[in-house]
Amino acid sequence: PLTKDTAIRASFFDFAAIAEQPEAILEHARYLEDGVLLLREGRVVGLHEWQSVSEQLNPHDIIDMRGKLIMPGFVDTHIHYPQTEMIGAFGEQLLEWLNQYTFPVEAQYHCPDHAAQMSAFFLHQLLANGTTSALIFGTVHPQSVDALFSAAEALDMRIIAGKVMMDRNAPDYLTETPEESYQQTRALITRWHERGRLSYALTPRFAPTSSPALLEKVQQLREEFPDTWLHTHLSENPQEIAWVKALFPERAGYLDVYHHYKLTGRRSVFAHCIHLEEREWQCLHDTDSSIAFCPTSNLFLGSGLFNIKRSWQQGVKVGIGTDVGAGTTFNMLQTLGEAYKVGQLQQYKISAAEAFYHATLGGAHALDLDHAIGNFNPGKEADFVVLDPAVSALQTLRIGNSKDIWEKLFVLMTLGDDRNIAQTWVNGRPVWHRDAGEKAA
Ligand code: GUN
Ligand code: ZN
Repeated sequence: PLTKDTAIRASFFDFAAIAEQPEAILEHARYLEDGVLLLREGRVVGLHEWQSVSEQLNPHDIIDMRGKLIMPGFVDTHIHYPQTEMIGAFGEQLLEWLNQYTFPVEAQYHCPDHAAQMSAFFLHQLLANGTTSALIFGTVHPQSVDALFSAAEALDMRIIAGKVMMDRNAPDYLTETPEESYQQTRALITRWHERGRLSYALTPRFAPTSSPALLEKVQQLREEFPDTWLHTHLSENPQEIAWVKALFPERAGYLDVYHHYKLTGRRSVFAHCIHLEEREWQCLHDTDSSIAFCPTSNLFLGSGLFNIKRSWQQGVKVGIGTDVGAGTTFNMLQTLGEAYKVGQLQQYKISAAEAFYHATLGGAHALDLDHAIGNFNPGKEADFVVLDPAVSALQTLRIGNSKDIWEKLFVLMTLGDDRNIAQTWVNGRPVWHRDAGEKAA
């Protein structure tokens, strides 16, 4: 049942429009210290100053959340649900990390019961961290994606996900033929794509586990289903890049492997993009492709520093990804704090405005979902997070001496974590209450 005629009184923060340059972010920022959000049937009707509408509201209809700060739900633009149980695996960089830890764990998703159990656990983790939408990797097993979509559908979450496609350079128990990959992916698209709030992403793992024949199948699927997403990895690690060049000597570089098979484009999301060459930046811009910046993963695997300044200069859309389980947290506040440090190491200052923009509307834009989610404009789907700005003695001290909303937000991304997520609402309904410890709906 959808919420009808809900009015919530609290502080609100969002961005009213897409920014083409970082300077424009501030112009679009909207902060209502005492505001009211009106919802009807899962959608935003309006966001207003309390003063301006309070007389027209029936006091019985108002949910009083004064003291809380409400933001659009966080958007995680790159995450692997089957890696939840291997987060924090010691010692390796990308390629050894995949072989030693990742592939054996992903093999477990052959079992539908395991996939169902972990899907529920995973979505619960997203909600407990205020993340309401994500672009998600499954495993090679179609049953992994069936389980995830079923669980997300029950919660009415807007997610995009797909089955991994891979046919070489991985253990036999995780590889398939290009034809099997095509048939299984096709069946999943038919079953799940654009069903309610669910969408499908074609998910070739990355170039090294894809033969030319597999990439042809991905291309064929994209031509058959042009409104599906494309989700993969690009230019994460120097050894990986050298390997791609050895595997595809006929291509101009790593991105050209994907571009050649027409896998770039408006709904294409490339995770990492740390070591891009000049022409690759240009190609991402020219094709309107997006990047998922995954700071905790890039630091944890020692992959390198993403150049966010360059992405603005080049006009390439960027969202934030946690990249669990190479990433070390589901929490977007902590991820923004690490993004700031990645900027610092390159003399680029990621402001709180820029950070929260990327985590909300910017991420929605990077996923081509900004028509539906990302802010409180009328008609948007009512996905939002209710933040407690200060939950510890240290946060109370530091938030208490912050002079304005910008300093508060910056402190929140520096000291904040899942304790700050008081509630999470999806499609106009509360689905997570911190104090209840589980979903409320
Ligand atoms: N490249 C290919 N597969 C993966 C993965 O599972 N995680 C990360 N971080 N990079 C990848
Ligand atoms: Zn990844």
